Amino acid sequence: EKAGFDHFMMKEIHDQPKAYRDTMGARLDPSGSKVVLDEMNMSEEQIRAIRNVHIIACGTAYHAGLVGKSIIEKLARIPVEVDVASEYRYREPIINKDTLVIVVSQSGETADTLAALREAKRNGAAVLAITNVVGSSVAREADHVIVTWAGPEIAVASTKAYTSQLIAFYLFGLQLAQTLGTQDAGFIANVIAEMKLLPEKVEQILAQADSIKGWAEQVAAHDNLFFIGRGLDYAVALEGSLKLKEISYIHSEAYAAGELKHGTLALIEDDVPVIALGTQEDLLEKTISNIKEVKARGAHVFGVQSEGQTELAKAVDGVFTIPRTLTLLTPALSVIPLQLLSYYASLARGNDVDKPRNLAKSVTVE
Ligand code: F6R
Repeated sequence: EKAGFDHFMMKEIHDQPKAYRDTMGARLDPSGSKVVLDEMNMSEEQIRAIRNVHIIACGTAYHAGLVGKSIIEKLARIPVEVDVASEYRYREPIINKDTLVIVVSQSGETADTLAALREAKRNGAAVLAITNVVGSSVAREADHVIVTWAGPEIAVASTKAYTSQLIAFYLFGLQLAQTLGTQDAGFIANVIAEMKLLPEKVEQILAQADSIKGWAEQVAAHDNLFFIGRGLDYAVALEGSLKLKEISYIHSEAYAAGELKHGTLALIEDDVPVIALGTQEDLLEKTISNIKEVKARGAHVFGVQSEGQTELAKAVDGVFTIPRTLTLLTPALSVIPLQLLSYYASLARGNDVDKPRNLAKSVTVE
């Protein structure tokens, strides 16, 4: 059932091209110019009534929500807040009937996420669930549902569920843009065309998986490291850091690259590994100057760049190149080398990759 892989996590990392295809599936109009999310059961009138969006989730699903915020704000120009479910419930969020609450949950059974959903409904908000489990509690109680077709995820560390959640957010963002007219038809068709190319680009990344092993072995020799990035790269850095912590037990922290000098730089000393994401072209120059700051203090920097870039490679000690795509779509590719990094680091430390200590796949307690 591991399809020839040693662990479920590696199998699920390799399931991603299929998970992307299945999640996009029939939701892309054959003409290639439109998204079709009728199944979500949200009328044009309901879409036009949305004034603000709250995205609520835990852990990795929360990190998908951070990317979701950028997607919705960029494509539909609707303001979005993102909260961890266990915080949202207790902060007296300002929810009203113009608020769309999006809950993101692989299992659809996470206690805090479900409680936040109920709180949102009590306050009159419409709730959209993005979930991987048809018929889960979250799916049953939400007003609208987008199912991610990632297939069962067995490994505790979430991989294909996260990337399928990203695909769901792209689809939803495009649906909003289409209905609200915030992006023109040519732009939307171009995003769709690029989305269709993502599965084969993931395959290209997976074909180079071995090149991450060396990094992972170096990382596994340390007890402390940093992930840095700006914009969407920062959101992906947070997910990369969580993945590494949960299965390798190595402490790491994800930092917005520009924020380092406000304290964290004090922790950079000789040989501390820094994973620097530099896929956001408009921010690259700034990220590179932050890389120089950590290099000057002795850090050993591994970079992730997009094909066609040359500047990042000159500033780092090792580089992984992902295929080129639209800036907005890069998280669906840049997270893959980080998944592989945590997998190989966990292996190098002799851990139980699929069943990390202290963690459960579905968290049904608050
Ligand atoms: C990390 C991980 C967890 C879950 C979180 C939410 O790899 O799997 O952080 O993402 O417990 O779970 P769901 O999505 O089932 O609500």
